Amino acid sequence: MNRLFSLAAAPLFAAAVFASSANADPIKDRQALMKDQGKTLGSITPIIKDEKPFDAELVMAALKHLNEDAQKIDIATLFPDGSDKGGETTAAPKIWEDKAGFEAALTKYKADATAAAAANPKDLESFKVVFNQVTENCGACHKSFRIKKD
Ligand code: HEC
Repeated sequence: MNRLFSLAAAPLFAAAVFASSANADPIKDRQALMKDQGKTLGSITPIIKDEKPFDAELVMAALKHLNEDAQKIDIATLFPDGSDKGGETTAAPKIWEDKAGFEAALTKYKADATAAAAANPKDLESFKVVFNQVTENCGACHKSFRIKKD
């Protein structure tokens, strides 16, 4: 009976521990955060491309959300040592070889995201400036710290 109980309870216990851990899987967590950023950008790029009219409210909400995501990127929890392996990841080994460089790129991105959220652009022209400033970080960091998948 005892043995039966522990057999039945073990997976439940494991699941509970897994769910309660904030970063049970840092690779999945950071990818989910990155994907959300991509989605947020996707909601405002049609405005940049002149496919949709400028919408100050939508832009503001998107920039705010992007900044929230940016501030959630924590190197210690999302890019812990060893998490260049152990799952499907495009994170480049350079993240851990050049920690100072990665941290600098992240710090700049966070500052630009905060500035973008505070800018509150009221027209397409000012929005374009803010948009370019924040999105150049995506490309720059990916170029240095992400492995290109073919
Ligand atoms: C400081 C560095 C850095 C910045 C800034 C950054 N990224 Fe990333 N991004 C990464 C790394 C590293 C990965 C690879 C994560 C992995 O596969 O483990 C990644 C992966 C991604 C992915 C793929 C996620 C997946 O499911 O595999 C998307 C989408 C993405 N980033 C979007 C963005 C967007 C949009 C921005 C800017 C708004 C941005 N990123 C800014 C470092 C960065």
